[in-house]
Amino acid sequence: MISRRDWLRITAGAAALGLHPRLLAALQEGAVRTRPIPSTGEQIPVIGLGGRWISNNSTAAELADHREVLHALAEGAEGAGRVFDSAAGYGGGGSETYAGQWAEEDGFGEDIFWATKVNVAGRGGGSVDAGDVRAQIERSFERLRRPIIDLDQVHNMGDPPTQLAVLQEYKEAGRIRYIGMTTTSAGQYGALADVMREYPIDFIGVDYAIDNRVVEDRILPLAQDEGIAVIVYLPFGRSRMWQRIGDRPLPDWAAEFDAHSWAQFMLKYVVAHPAVTVAAPGTGDPEHMIDDLGGGRGRLPTPDHVQRMIALVESLPAG
Ligand SMILES: NC(=O)c1ccc[n+]([C@@H]2O[C@H](COP(=O)([O-])OP(=O)(O)OC[C@H]3O[C@@H](n4cnc5c(N)ncnc54)[C@H](OP(=O)(O)O)[C@@H]3O)[C@@H](O)[C@H]2O)c1
Repeated sequence: MISRRDWLRITAGAAALGLHPRLLAALQEGAVRTRPIPSTGEQIPVIGLGGRWISNNSTAAELADHREVLHALAEGAEGAGRVFDSAAGYGGGGSETYAGQWAEEDGFGEDIFWATKVNVAGRGGGSVDAGDVRAQIERSFERLRRPIIDLDQVHNMGDPPTQLAVLQEYKEAGRIRYIGMTTTSAGQYGALADVMREYPIDFIGVDYAIDNRVVEDRILPLAQDEGIAVIVYLPFGRSRMWQRIGDRPLPDWAAEFDAHSWAQFMLKYVVAHPAVTVAAPGTGDPEHMIDDLGGGRGRLPTPDHVQRMIALVESLPAG
């Protein structure tokens, strides 16, 4: 196994030499695990990136790190674009703007599956003007510098009838390939379930983590029944799980499913659920990105492992 530092150095050097991403990926353990998007069968890698932390307020040093994170995401994608999950509202527009700029300047746009979100209604808000929705979507195209957006979702359940109808127009025009709906509030799961039954959406985005399993009850089985892809948000509960784990060592048996870090342990927990299409952890640290991508390689936990993982996490202090 090469170290993460070495991996960064190798990929930087190899990129300068123009080596094929497939060759770069072969330097890491195991093949990249992919899952099909149910509505088309298109395969995407199970680990992507949450883009919420790239901001117009980021410092130059933070932006340099985020740029390297995106390189790590794109390299070794093995032909199936890795999900970058952004939103019109992230970082005052900076998340879309910087990612689009770096992809164009550094030439990795084709290695990314571009996902963003629209919402002019606020959290769970109602009754917006379709023209305002279109204007925000057009701004996403400009900022991302993409002729086609792979996935655009309504953020936080804002006015589903109006905003999903506008997204559907764009899908029919061939400018957006997939559409969806997101929430990370358990109080909105009932409304989300209604949308999943009533609208022809391709994706949902929901919060799911080893210590936050509410979606296992109703939302994930419904996604399987309705043939809807699932993006997992907050797979670490942001800082919650890191506080719970503290400096505890990773159990030896994590090696039985090729988890070499706590991040991989937690990501493999969510990816082991058959309804999950991709997990989108957030990071501004290139080494953490490479660590997280390791959660998409090697074996997954068995049902017995899953029970053992839950028992271990439940024995930890509350976050
Ligand atoms: N309603 C919605 O649509 C919605 C709501 C919330 C979130 N989201 C999406 O979900 C994404 C993920 O959420 P999040 O970023 O808030 O939370 P998260 O992924 O649960 O956790 C992010 C935290 O984990 C740390 N981390 C990541 N990889 C690590 C590693 N290998 N080792 C140690 N620490 C690691 C990060 O710190 P470092 O930066 O130091 O790595 C960061 O503090 C967002 O970026 C966004 O795209 C969507």
